[in-house]
Amino acid sequence: MSESQTIRLAADLSFLHTDYMWRMPGSWVGYDYYSTSEFYEDIARIAQRGVMDMLFFGDTGGTPEDYGGNHEAGVKYGAKWPRHDMAPMIPLMAKAAPGVGFAITMSTTYHHPFYVARFFNALDHVTRGRIAWNAVTSAYKNEAANYGFDEMMEHDERYERAQEFLEVTGKLWGSVEPDALIADREQGIFADPTKVHRIDHRGRYFNVRGPLPALPSPQQKPVIIQAGLSGPGMDLAAKYADMQFSTRRTVASMKQHREALDKKLASFGRKPRDVGILWSIRIQVAESDTDAKQKERHYLESIRPEAGLVEMSAQYNVDFSKAKPGMRLADFADEVRAQKGNYGSFDELLKTTDPAVTVEEFGRRFLVDRILVAAGTPKTIVDKLEEMHFGSGANGGFILGRGYSAMDNIREFVEFVVPELQRRGLTKTKYAGPTLRENMCG
Ligand SMILES: Cc1cc2nc3c(=O)[nH]c(=O)nc-3n(C[C@H](O)[C@H](O)[C@H](O)COP(=O)(O)O)c2cc1C
Repeated sequence: MSESQTIRLAADLSFLHTDYMWRMPGSWVGYDYYSTSEFYEDIARIAQRGVMDMLFFGDTGGTPEDYGGNHEAGVKYGAKWPRHDMAPMIPLMAKAAPGVGFAITMSTTYHHPFYVARFFNALDHVTRGRIAWNAVTSAYKNEAANYGFDEMMEHDERYERAQEFLEVTGKLWGSVEPDALIADREQGIFADPTKVHRIDHRGRYFNVRGPLPALPSPQQKPVIIQAGLSGPGMDLAAKYADMQFSTRRTVASMKQHREALDKKLASFGRKPRDVGILWSIRIQVAESDTDAKQKERHYLESIRPEAGLVEMSAQYNVDFSKAKPGMRLADFADEVRAQKGNYGSFDELLKTTDPAVTVEEFGRRFLVDRILVAAGTPKTIVDKLEEMHFGSGANGGFILGRGYSAMDNIREFVEFVVPELQRRGLTKTKYAGPTLRENMCG
């Protein structure tokens, strides 16, 4: 197996404090509350011990109001709420764990490319080349309202704006050549002006003169991640991304997704190895497969029956509190589609769920089964990861998401699963280089 075929490892830290994880034994133990920097610094140290490539923070700047038409359920149960801006945590974590990379999320719908280009340049300097940008188009109504929009921008228009946004940020990161800095103290020459270029971008959404008033950063530009599942989302990933996040639920579906991405990549003159995929997975480690089942049951029992519906409502901007007994997922397809939101992932649910299952039944499983699952002993888990990895082209890896508490579950993963992965030569035992790009995209 070549180095580029090894499994990349990441963890999604977006939900450690919400979505019922705060109720799990082992959550936040020994910390004042979830948002202390020590909590995240310790997670970073554990990730470093497991030679994990990246820790990721998702973001939506809103409070879910879709279930029941107000924020009561989201706040009461801690479902997708609260959401802090995690960017200030990055330099602290980067210092605590000098090999791990970090990804944060910024919306192409609500921010400006000049600000975003400058911000990631600064973070790339501070982390010495270990930053990634999860470029999202944002599909949530309350977030749109917080940024001044009465109506959410249409899905395809959000992606058109994202295309131009990424074009502009790319131009800005290229506007100062890597060897522009001279710093000749004797001559008093700071930098070479011939290596600094205006971009003079004039487009449909943005006019940006440039150049970026900053020295080039270690990676020049952040590792770019895109998670769109729709046609325009896949186009954006194929044109600009270094990495894609995906939430498929079966090996067959992973394989189809990989093939679709490879086709798109070819249409932009890029190769499959240019974009790896990190598949979202929930992992439950235990000493025996029976223990794993018990832990699964405990986790399920800690989730309130309506929790999945609260979460589904937030995800798809549809009020699932109105689901009548016996209604099926397919009964909501038109409404979800009309919301201009995350139809791609709803479509995946329709394709991979027994059509007879009611919305009510499905709601309960939504939090736990929405992504791939590997539960059991380290051997069982690694067998499954290996099968999924090679069954989908061995091009990327996994991002731990959902259903794990910190520190307990993330520590268990590093202590018990990573050694088995390393023993089989499936993941690396030391970092390949100082930058995230070298480690995750090499
Ligand atoms: C692992 C993962 C993380 C994501 N993180 C975010 C996020 O932090 N913020 C956000 O607005 N959307 C996030 N998304 C949603 C995607 O950006 C996108 O809206 C969704 O996959 C639907 O894509 P589509 O609009 O192309 O159908 C994430 C998706 C995945 C799979």
